[in-house]
Amino acid sequence: MEQYKFIDAEGSFRIENPELTSYLYFPVAGESGVMSSVTPLLGGDSKTGQNTFLLEPVSNENLHNNKSSRNFWLKLQSGELWSATGVSSRQQMEKFTKAKEETVLEAGIMWHKVKRKSSAYGLTSEVTTFVPHTEDKVELTMITIENTGKNYITATPVAAIPIYARSADNIRDHRNVTSMLHRIITAENGVVVNPTLTFDERGHRKNAVVYGVFGRGNGRLPIGFIPVAEDFIGEGGDFENPGALHGEKIDMVPAGIQVDGFEAMGGIVFEEFTINPGERISYVVALGYGEDMDVLSKAADTYLTEEVFLKRLKETKEYWNGKVNISYESGDDRFDRWMYWVNFQPILRRIYGCSFLPHHDYGKGGRGWRDLWQDCLALLMMNPSGVREMLLSNFGGVRMDGTNATIIGKEQGEFIADRNGIARVWMDHGMWPFMTSHLYIKQSGDLDFMLEEAGYFKDAQGFRGEGSDENWVPEQGCIQKTAGGDAYRGTILEHVLLQHLTAFYDVGEHNHMRLRGADWNDALDMAPERGESVAFTAAYAGNIEEIADLLLRMKKKGKVQTVTLLKEMELLLCEGEGLYESIEEKKELLKRYCNVCGHTVSGERFEIDTEKLAENLRKKAAWLKEHIRKTEWIKNGAGLSWYNSYYDNSGKRVEGDFEKGVRMMLTGQVFAIMSGTAQEKQVEEIVKSADEYLYAPEVGGYRLNTNFEEIKADMGRMFGFAYGQKENGAVFSHMTTMYANALYKRGFVKDGYKVVKSLYSHASDVTKSKIYPGIPEYIDPKGRGVYHYLTGAASWLLMTVLTEMYGVKGEYGSLKLEPKLMAEQFDKNHEAAVHLEFAGRKLHVKYLNPLMKSYGEYEVKEVIMNGQLVAGKGALIGKEYFVSCKVRRENDIVVVLR
Ligand code: G1P
Repeated sequence: MEQYKFIDAEGSFRIENPELTSYLYFPVAGESGVMSSVTPLLGGDSKTGQNTFLLEPVSNENLHNNKSSRNFWLKLQSGELWSATGVSSRQQMEKFTKAKEETVLEAGIMWHKVKRKSSAYGLTSEVTTFVPHTEDKVELTMITIENTGKNYITATPVAAIPIYARSADNIRDHRNVTSMLHRIITAENGVVVNPTLTFDERGHRKNAVVYGVFGRGNGRLPIGFIPVAEDFIGEGGDFENPGALHGEKIDMVPAGIQVDGFEAMGGIVFEEFTINPGERISYVVALGYGEDMDVLSKAADTYLTEEVFLKRLKETKEYWNGKVNISYESGDDRFDRWMYWVNFQPILRRIYGCSFLPHHDYGKGGRGWRDLWQDCLALLMMNPSGVREMLLSNFGGVRMDGTNATIIGKEQGEFIADRNGIARVWMDHGMWPFMTSHLYIKQSGDLDFMLEEAGYFKDAQGFRGEGSDENWVPEQGCIQKTAGGDAYRGTILEHVLLQHLTAFYDVGEHNHMRLRGADWNDALDMAPERGESVAFTAAYAGNIEEIADLLLRMKKKGKVQTVTLLKEMELLLCEGEGLYESIEEKKELLKRYCNVCGHTVSGERFEIDTEKLAENLRKKAAWLKEHIRKTEWIKNGAGLSWYNSYYDNSGKRVEGDFEKGVRMMLTGQVFAIMSGTAQEKQVEEIVKSADEYLYAPEVGGYRLNTNFEEIKADMGRMFGFAYGQKENGAVFSHMTTMYANALYKRGFVKDGYKVVKSLYSHASDVTKSKIYPGIPEYIDPKGRGVYHYLTGAASWLLMTVLTEMYGVKGEYGSLKLEPKLMAEQFDKNHEAAVHLEFAGRKLHVKYLNPLMKSYGEYEVKEVIMNGQLVAGKGALIGKEYFVSCKVRRENDIVVVLR
């Protein structure tokens, strides 16, 4: 298998014989809601949501199992059939023989092209697919056929795309019955399916969506249609060997026909063509979604010429490339191009949610709370405008008990009550909003953000998932009210404090925060009673300390002398070693607080001096960290040390030496390092232990855990997964990347670089990872990258490379340049550069490293902006300077390292 090659600076790539790698899929989508996946053989699917799949939904195994695809046939004069997309029984058979047709795939952000050459027939096809970025709900494919042989060719082309036109639920829930709902109509330019009703989990409803497949050849209308799947395959045939195309004449129907109650087929027959050697002919096929058959057929028609297709394709490429406004030029071109895809991935997750690509065959679109906040990390680096509003409205999902709504609606800031009574609480959820908001504040200097107000979420769930508010009924709405009946609003600072302070008291038997439904690791879901997450206790501690620092900064800037908070929260600010050490007292206090906020809140406030509050928080953070240091530092028989990450539902420590081997988990290390809980010397020891027990370069680097060799039913479903899969010990990119981030933050640059490099080297080597460019969710035990594209790892890698590796970051609105690049990352000219946007301005930051020193050996000596020296030693371009007129829309910054 050959490596892919990048063919431009925007990450477009080229790979030969793509169909000889299994499970490959590629995303093409638009802002209109059309979400497609395309395989090298034009398989995959297309939908606008869980209940509106135009093409039959596919999971990873369907990618090779399904015979239905976006096929395009040529029925040659001889009667032989050739599929321009390669999906005929014969071409599939020949794939592994000398007769294999030459294929090459080229793809870039949101567009996909496969070229296929048949020497036997002297034919070449080029099949390009994309979804226009505009509001139109269409997916377009252009098929160009060229005569590359010596003789003229005469053939009849037939587009053959089965139309599923219903909910994903119906795959094995009344598949046949729902086909009876179909009303299939042939329009002038295609086949439209207008189901009468929809049967899915929402019940039986009148259908409002029409689906269609349309086409034109060289600008001309089709000559007929085969609108029913069973007519197309013929008795005994299938989509790779369709009976309808075998007869002498193709049996087709004209426009204006209606067929009721069958599986539908976008079978479109075009007029016979003859092309001489060197000549070409092109067809455009559109898959469209609409509300009205005529409107849809007309709208689709506007796309069906080569000219329009190419124009829209160009615009679409420009649109998406405009969205990726961070790019690199380093000593490793391949890394720079690969990062282009990583930078794009958070946009893909904004569109697809965590569902709707073949591996992601769960959920119904949308993202969970954790993913929502982490994707904001990337979006705020790439597109800072609009982020403030988005963050603010997301805070409306926080409940008074510090937990939050987990079902997120379609609209920004829309959260949905869980109607099934007591739902799950993920104990990590409370710490992500501050992490993201803090990054936003650092980038922008917008300290006022913390003083903005937002409402709170209310539903029946209370007492941190262990009780319910029987007085609440859905009719009251999901807004927290005061006893007087008004909607209660508090500052963002209050929301953040609430999330951290409630967690502070929510402890288990070892005085660490309870694991509850799970933490970041969704699959640690079987220790709700006695489980504790030391890992995220450290993460909360780190945040609490940073909130204290932020408060002091706000005070210094004259923003707050005192802080005003909800009266009930006074309880949460209780202090004292005695209280902190007493598990019972803490639990009791939390219970009291949850009780007073169980249904309504008083709406009254109290004031606290900012410094006093900061001091209170500092003490809490310090206690948490010290407690972890004192109780969770493991030294094993081999003399290696690291932090224990969890307690299980039997109340036992999870890591250390066990009968079946050493047990170590990465999560606890990441947050101990990131939060500053692990001391300098301890970080060194953790790195050593991780190298010993978790490092596996053959699967991309650092695994999530060692093999426990036990189905730990007192911990979580992850232990039911085979070792090396997903949360059970895979190299799980998200956590691996956070490990790198933590190491960079603490100045362990060489080690952080090793983490990024091993993951990147594996993922970008298609011969090992078997995926297109980008970062997958994890690497499976055979080295394959799986759950490609939709992963929080992308946001974290984007942020780590930009703000840590390249060290370009905001320091409360000022621009800080603190490179942590290794010597090998500089190019032949001793340069490494990044293009980005910061404070509404375009920056091109170039590091010059004339002596080719590595991190630790160089210092920033000079910073020259637009030809002017702005900072001698040091690398902070002050906010005042930065927003002054000396800064242009586009700026060149040269940083000299010596
Ligand atoms: C996925 C989920 C994420 C969760 C993680 C571990 O990770 O989206 O919320 O924390 O699994 O269970 P991702 O695919 O985003 O890397």
